[in-house]
Amino acid sequence: MKTLILFSTRDGQTREIASYIASELKELGVESDVVNLHRNADIGWDNYDRVIIGASIRYGHFHSSVDAFVKKHQRALNSMPSAFFSVNLVARKAEKRTPQTNSYTRKFLLASPWKPDHCAVFAGALRYPRYGWLDRVMIRFIMKMTGGETDVRKEVVYTDWQQVARFAHEIVQLAAK
Ligand SMILES: Cc1cc2nc3c(=O)[nH]c(=O)nc-3n(C[C@H](O)[C@H](O)[C@H](O)COP(=O)(O)O)c2cc1C
Repeated sequence: MKTLILFSTRDGQTREIASYIASELKELGVESDVVNLHRNADIGWDNYDRVIIGASIRYGHFHSSVDAFVKKHQRALNSMPSAFFSVNLVARKAEKRTPQTNSYTRKFLLASPWKPDHCAVFAGALRYPRYGWLDRVMIRFIMKMTGGETDVRKEVVYTDWQQVARFAHEIVQLAAK
């Protein structure tokens, strides 16, 4: 049996975090599959004894596919040990990096028919050179308002990889249902 790690990404950071979790799990002797939530209609749930979903925020929202996926697969998700992680830039501030203090995550968990056993919030990446001009202008404005990086030549990864590693260790501890 394996762990299924599903990710929803726009610019790749959530995929990187999902892959990092997979490599941490491997070191702990746990095999996993890392799967793009947007591309996978059919999941062989019987192959898995644990599931993790990670999703990023863009303009205040997770991708609508995340809600649709959770709604469609809520029975399977609730039937096994499960965890959720969200990725966003508000979380670069430590006080906004818990499921209770990160409003995107708190709202998601409140509304979700899936009740994950464990949850984490990770800071994402700011990659100005990769954005189109409108996104670049918008993100720069938000960064200016919130005291963040405004140099559009920069790429900054705020993800705390030790926090991600701890999350992987915690997931292994989740009891079977
Ligand atoms: C166009 C755009 C809009 C974003 N909107 C938000 C936002 O509303 N709140 C936030 O905290 N982070 C926001 N972010 C930051 C992303 O969540 C962050 O870059 C994250 O690492 C993206 O993960 P991904 O590469 O897996 O999609 C935004 C990023 C972009 C490019």
